[in-house]
Amino acid sequence: MKAALRLLWSPGKLVASAACGSAKTLLGDWPAESFGGARKAMLVRKSTAGDFEAILAIVNDAARAYRGVIPADRWHEPYMSSAELAQEIADGIGFWAAEDEGRLLGVMGIQDKGDVALIRHAYVATAQQRKGIGAKLLRRVESLADKPILIGTWADAYWAIDFYRRNGFTVVSNEDKDRLLRRYWSIPARQIETSVVLADRRWVKDQDRAAAR
Ligand SMILES: CC(C)(COP(=O)(O)OP(=O)(O)OC[C@H]1O[C@@H](n2cnc3c(N)ncnc32)[C@H](O)[C@@H]1OP(=O)(O)O)[C@@H](O)C(=O)NCCC(=O)NCCS
Repeated sequence: MKAALRLLWSPGKLVASAACGSAKTLLGDWPAESFGGARKAMLVRKSTAGDFEAILAIVNDAARAYRGVIPADRWHEPYMSSAELAQEIADGIGFWAAEDEGRLLGVMGIQDKGDVALIRHAYVATAQQRKGIGAKLLRRVESLADKPILIGTWADAYWAIDFYRRNGFTVVSNEDKDRLLRRYWSIPARQIETSVVLADRRWVKDQDRAAAR
């Protein structure tokens, strides 16, 4: 687990090699996990520099779900620019990818923040949603963290909240949400106002334990 975390948090290299146009893998000796039966199995694997454009395409395709749902002043197109994605990776987000027959179907990022890990930018291609891909990605990135996990999403993204709840996460109080978003995320005040935070069981248990003291 320790080695997993060390390898996971090396996204700077991904940006560096993407900038040089190299497709050098950051996987190292990471085993990819496969799912599926008779047809070629779907893999969930660490992203490589060569995945950069595919990650961007999936984010911007899946983020169409937000259009007309999240506050209009928060929507922009494309939802994420190439420069923003490069910055997110440079800031420590490691992306994992679901791949089927050489095609990326979904991506999920994880970012180490010291005492917690954040799940960032979870997106499954629109045509591939509700087939269990998000849950597989989530289980994989969760298995990499030996600490409590937090997730921030738009308060209006009811489907994402439902997805995380079904996968064991709990929406934290408004007060905790404001505190956590300020502490672990770098987002504008308006985004804090229009977001929710979900926490995993470990975080909830730690809070309960602290409150009982
Ligand atoms: C949220 C997301 C990553 C989940 O991935 P997924 O592969 O679709 O999820 P799974 O198939 O593992 O789980 C499906 C469950 O998620 C929820 N869900 C996902 N998409 C939904 C939708 N369009 N409407 C309602 N519920 C939805 C439901 O609980 C669903 O269960 P159901 O199909 O039995 O009702 C994906 O739907 C997505 O990319 N959505 C758009 C972008 C987004 O909201 N990202 C979250 C950013 S934090």
